[in-house]
Amino acid sequence: MNILLTEQKDKAIDIELVFLKNLNKLSKKIKNRLDKIGFSIEKESIEIVDNICYIGLGKLKGESLKIAFANMIQKINKTNFREIYVNLFQYEKELNLNEIVEGVVLGGYSFTHYKSNTISIQKTLHINISSAKKSKKDLEGQYKNTLTIMKSVNMVRDIVNTTPEDFYPEIMAVKAESIAKENSLECKVFGEDYLAKNEMNVMLAVGRASRHESKLIHLTYKPKKSKRKIVIVGKGLTYDSGGLSLKSSGGLTMKCDKSGGAAVLGIMNAITSLNYEYEVHGIIGAVENMIGGDAYKPDDVLVARNGTTIEVRNTDAEGRLVLADCLCYAQDEVKNIDYIFDMATLTGACIVGLGEYTTGVMGHSEKLKKKMIHSSKKSGELVGVLPMNRYLMNKMESKIADITNSASSRSGGAITASIFLDYFIEKENKNKWLHLDIAGAAYREESWGYNPFGGTGAGVRLILDFIKRLK
Ligand code: BES
Ligand code: ZN
Ligand code: ZN
Repeated sequence: MNILLTEQKDKAIDIELVFLKNLNKLSKKIKNRLDKIGFSIEKESIEIVDNICYIGLGKLKGESLKIAFANMIQKINKTNFREIYVNLFQYEKELNLNEIVEGVVLGGYSFTHYKSNTISIQKTLHINISSAKKSKKDLEGQYKNTLTIMKSVNMVRDIVNTTPEDFYPEIMAVKAESIAKENSLECKVFGEDYLAKNEMNVMLAVGRASRHESKLIHLTYKPKKSKRKIVIVGKGLTYDSGGLSLKSSGGLTMKCDKSGGAAVLGIMNAITSLNYEYEVHGIIGAVENMIGGDAYKPDDVLVARNGTTIEVRNTDAEGRLVLADCLCYAQDEVKNIDYIFDMATLTGACIVGLGEYTTGVMGHSEKLKKKMIHSSKKSGELVGVLPMNRYLMNKMESKIADITNSASSRSGGAITASIFLDYFIEKENKNKWLHLDIAGAAYREESWGYNPFGGTGAGVRLILDFIKRLK
């Protein structure tokens, strides 16, 4: 889908978008038709009659506007209409161009890589900005930035949706290198030799039974002037079988377990074009958790890069192990950090606690959590805070090592996972750290809002919004 900003109504238009806040003023014929199909203003319904695409719009802004444009594009994609027209000015108000671009680009996404026959007709949305209060230059700038972010979200969706057979740690590293090249970023990729030499034996253990070498990836964006330093660490489990604590076979999909790492790639892919004045480090632990004679075992005691000993009680709690070493690496390599976030599809418990679509946010600083909630509202990504407390700390105790990787009870599983990660956050960074559990938000096997089936690109819009708002 192309988007064109125009100042007139082009003659080549095939179909025009008409927003409806109520159905009263329509002709009887059209009103009857919309009534019959159960057209709902609140649910952003879409119906095409002749050359008009009617859109029900409860609210002319925010998530509702994004969803309306997503629904519209999905409907029009099934037709042969090519040239679509809309006026940015509706009901005496200027619609938010960012929200339109977001709805169209995210809602129009489909993953067709493995389909044999895909013919798609190129369509163009002509947006008339002639009555807009904002200048053409401003609108074009907005359009460019939003498009950059949304294209990155779709890139992340592609990565997440790609199968473990086609996307393993080495491929993640190759992808990181190509993103770095295109965006003038620094990129370091380390293999298992480096992990062994640098005492990252926990990450090494998780990937030991895989035929694919584990990779530690470090991308850096260094603008000329930098006001702040942000580190984002992503869980990049290109597949999680559970290891010897094997997952049960019922309807399992775990290619989504690389979503945290993929989101890091998405953020780094957008950051140069956005021209932000903050130094950003993206660090990914790309590993495959498999079974085999060489697999790490429940009972093993592993020593992390910072010397913490970990008793493995469950090899399926592998993400926190990989993150443990990656968090140590991040804090050793990057000094004077202002913010450190980790993003991971870490626990099923987070989905149980917050529902499918919401990212769990955990950390010590109330101020920082508030900032993240603000970015959630602004970006449209849902978050919910899960509170850590001192009593849950006991659940990570081990009889024989410093801590265990799997809590003694299932309750509060998302929180106990963050308590585990907290062992690897240095004192000076405690209030600079947030853990984002994206297990529910990153991948769904149904479409929701402007997210089609599969990977959603969770984390990209949220973190980029957070960075944008820094002072
Ligand atoms: N990758 C999973 C978590 C997950 C679950 C992601 C559902 C996406 C959808 C993670 O590695 C895992 O297996 N976690 C265990 C932890 C437990 C063993 C302490 C879980 O949630 O059951
Ligand atoms: Zn697991
Ligand atoms: Zn996992």
